[in-house]
Amino acid sequence: MCGIFGYIGRRTAAPIIVKGLKKLEYRGYDSFGIATLGSGIEISKHEGRISENGRSAIRLNGTIGIGHTRWATHGIPNDINAHPHMDCKNRIAIVHNGIIENYADLKRQLIARGHRFLSETDTEVIAHLIEEKYTNNLLTAVRDTVSDLQGSFALLVISPEEQRIVAARNASPLVIGVGDGEFFAASDMTPILEYTERAMFLEDGDIASLSQTKVEIFHGDDIVTRQIELIDWSVEDTKKGGFPHYMLKEIYEQPQAFYNSISGITKETIPRVAIKPSSVVIVACGSSFHAGLIFKYLLEETCGIPVRIEYASEFKYFPPPVNGLVIGITQSGETADTLTALKQAKAHNCSTLAITNVLGSSVSRIADSTLYMRAGPEISVAATKSFVAQLAVLMQLINIYSDNQFNKVLLQGHRAIEDILLKDLSEAIAICKKAHSLFYVGRGAFFPVSLEGALKMKEISYIHAEGYAAGELKHGPFALLSKDTPVIAICMPDDTYGVMISNIKEIKARGAPVIALGVEGDSELTDVVDLFISVPKTHKFVQVLTSLVILQLLAYHTAVALKRDIDKPRNLAKSVTVE
Ligand code: F6R
Repeated sequence: MCGIFGYIGRRTAAPIIVKGLKKLEYRGYDSFGIATLGSGIEISKHEGRISENGRSAIRLNGTIGIGHTRWATHGIPNDINAHPHMDCKNRIAIVHNGIIENYADLKRQLIARGHRFLSETDTEVIAHLIEEKYTNNLLTAVRDTVSDLQGSFALLVISPEEQRIVAARNASPLVIGVGDGEFFAASDMTPILEYTERAMFLEDGDIASLSQTKVEIFHGDDIVTRQIELIDWSVEDTKKGGFPHYMLKEIYEQPQAFYNSISGITKETIPRVAIKPSSVVIVACGSSFHAGLIFKYLLEETCGIPVRIEYASEFKYFPPPVNGLVIGITQSGETADTLTALKQAKAHNCSTLAITNVLGSSVSRIADSTLYMRAGPEISVAATKSFVAQLAVLMQLINIYSDNQFNKVLLQGHRAIEDILLKDLSEAIAICKKAHSLFYVGRGAFFPVSLEGALKMKEISYIHAEGYAAGELKHGPFALLSKDTPVIAICMPDDTYGVMISNIKEIKARGAPVIALGVEGDSELTDVVDLFISVPKTHKFVQVLTSLVILQLLAYHTAVALKRDIDKPRNLAKSVTVE
């Protein structure tokens, strides 16, 4: 996945594109580049981040341009593999988000026909194919080219022969911002919000021509219209707002995100497919998978509705026998594995529901119905507020299935999150920052909380961290326990309390320090562990939320203490649009 951004209007394009790419960097940040229509195609592309000091002083002429910020898939991050890519005659410049699956074949054929390739990327084949098809109409050349491509793409193409940008979409997001005498094309709305809140989302198979005065969209041989939607995210939401990192800002936005997401879903408004299913299959990846696993525990316990959960990346290749409702959870709405799994579920005649944070995202085009979280834009690569908003939607579904018996509990959720934000975690941070390895354990719904806590820790602090169902630790991982492998145990007063205390004692007996999360006033737990962190004694749903927020903050502050790159951890990107 990468970020692409294009501008056409009356202003000088390069500074607008630089600004836009900085906003899109969370989608990929190993190299960047811009091409404008100045005197011919003017181009500047480099390894590294556009937001690094001095990198953004790009002086290119022209009021039409395209840019790219990359997360490498084909070829290492360097100046040559950075986009834009050009054809042999430097008449075509192109930026691309996605993967061209048949690029190797196409490249062989193009080389045989005399084309010279500079980069190792899959993208460059597109520039050469357009070169072959181009006579005097860029739109036609792009249309004829995309029919040869297999895979996913959001493309922006320019040529000095024509005063326009041609855009094409297939299975990669592409939104067009409609300004006043100017148009924007981007992977998502974040770089566009500064200029306009009016957006058109291209559909798979659409090809658009953006000129200074109009946007025309074609689908096959037809000219089509795509509705202009008003996006209610504000540009302020995409700024750090005085916080040192987006991640901390987003952690602090969780009370509001939780409240908004709870309030956005009611019995009256949930889509028909979501009305009390007899069974549920969840497909998701990463943190979204953990949200689904929490849902499984809570829904099965409260409503007795069986939930099966599958990694979306496995579902495609090993589809289990499915029927009933399949829910795809994806904050970005663009995760390739989750999209594929949902398509497959549809092919098996299942009803499908998407839970996502991004209006107009691909998942909402695939699923029968969509429930939107209302978390606002999330810029930090590590998911925090989108995760809490997913839980809000899922807990609200449980509430609706239980005749609103959790109304009061859920309406307390945002306050409990707010209170826990101020917790002093300094002693726990001091222990974690010295560790080479950490284990997180819990049972029931607190097992996926431990998985999520460990994921946050490893992705931003780079400390190896594993979440385990507490009973599993003795089936192997015990061999790793020592005084240098702290264990974080989530031990709440439910049916598993007694066995959790036994597990903690077994861990202590192997010399590992234990940091425990439990409810306030739990002296039994306090006595057996090295460090006790309390959450208020409330309903289990709220304890899930509060313990989770503590683990997010622990990961954040440990990573800060280790001087990590919090918002852009190494090797990662916000949405994974490749399988
Ligand atoms: C972790 C994280 C990832 C995502 C995963 C799925 O902090 O952000 O694990 O949760 O890539 O992404 P979505 O929810 O966009 O499908």
